[in-house]
Amino acid sequence: MQTITTIAALNAAIEEAKNANKTIGLVPTMGALHEGHLSLIHKAREQNDLVVVSVFVNPIQFNNKEDLAKYPRTVEADCEKLSSAGADIAFVPSVEEMYPEPVNTVYHFGPIEEVMEGPRRPGHFSGVAVVVRRLFDLTKPNRAYFGEKDYQQIAIIRNLLEQIKYPIEIVPCPIVRAEDGLALSSRNMRLSAEARAVAPHIYATLQQAVEMSEVEDVETVHDFVIDTLSSFHEVNGLDENLKFEPEYFEIVNDTTLQPISDWKDAKGIVGCIAVWLTGVRLIDMVRFR
Ligand code: PAJ
Repeated sequence: MQTITTIAALNAAIEEAKNANKTIGLVPTMGALHEGHLSLIHKAREQNDLVVVSVFVNPIQFNNKEDLAKYPRTVEADCEKLSSAGADIAFVPSVEEMYPEPVNTVYHFGPIEEVMEGPRRPGHFSGVAVVVRRLFDLTKPNRAYFGEKDYQQIAIIRNLLEQIKYPIEIVPCPIVRAEDGLALSSRNMRLSAEARAVAPHIYATLQQAVEMSEVEDVETVHDFVIDTLSSFHEVNGLDENLKFEPEYFEIVNDTTLQPISDWKDAKGIVGCIAVWLTGVRLIDMVRFR
């Protein structure tokens, strides 16, 4: 595996691959790699001749300075994992290399950014789009791999591709979970042992909600999830600080991301959630239909 830190060296490697008619798979990441990221790389490895993984903590997608400062940075360990997972190129640029000039571009995505993460993280998706477009321009991939854990992000990237008309195939990859059901996330490292032990109840509650959706209406299922999580610590006699604080749970059309009010409103339906636990923000999702 080649570790590349400059755009000049990346351009040369991509040109060489294109001249050899190789297909290119891109996996954008912010590092602190875990099995969730690696599943994207394995998929890319199966489907492409050259696999490029970017490791770049993108400052312009953080609307919260503390979150950016606390974001784990583990580049050496990441490169070892990437090499074992079969990546050909790890692209690990500095902020100056990616953004030599201040970024002025702002992307708009209409209704799909007015739900879930959108209103809670102003500027986030525009920042994601800027970096992903830059990575597309630099690596000229045939395919790009994104995890369904960030379900809305995939819709945003698809919309970006419609706006810029690049013929890149987006490959969505299922959520990888710990054995106890918690969706793998680099933020899980920030949970104490006690918080880590209650965190799997987010997914357990979502699974119960899916079962419930066979017989109950959308509003009842929605309220069940919010109420079950909000009262979890009380019902189980846990300390107040282990309280789940749901930020949102939205049951939406899986393509338009607009909330539904009846299970008949859409063919594909997913539920997306963000929950605070001991100051750590966790997200997850399930498919209802
Ligand atoms: P990051 O959070 O590092 O995630 C990189 C990719 O890994 C994303 O597509 C994300 O959905 C996927 N991923 C994370 N955890 C996963 C899990 N448990 N199962 C499956 N896939 C998982 O998402 C970003 O970085 C950034 O916004 C980025 C797209 C790199 C732009 O900066």
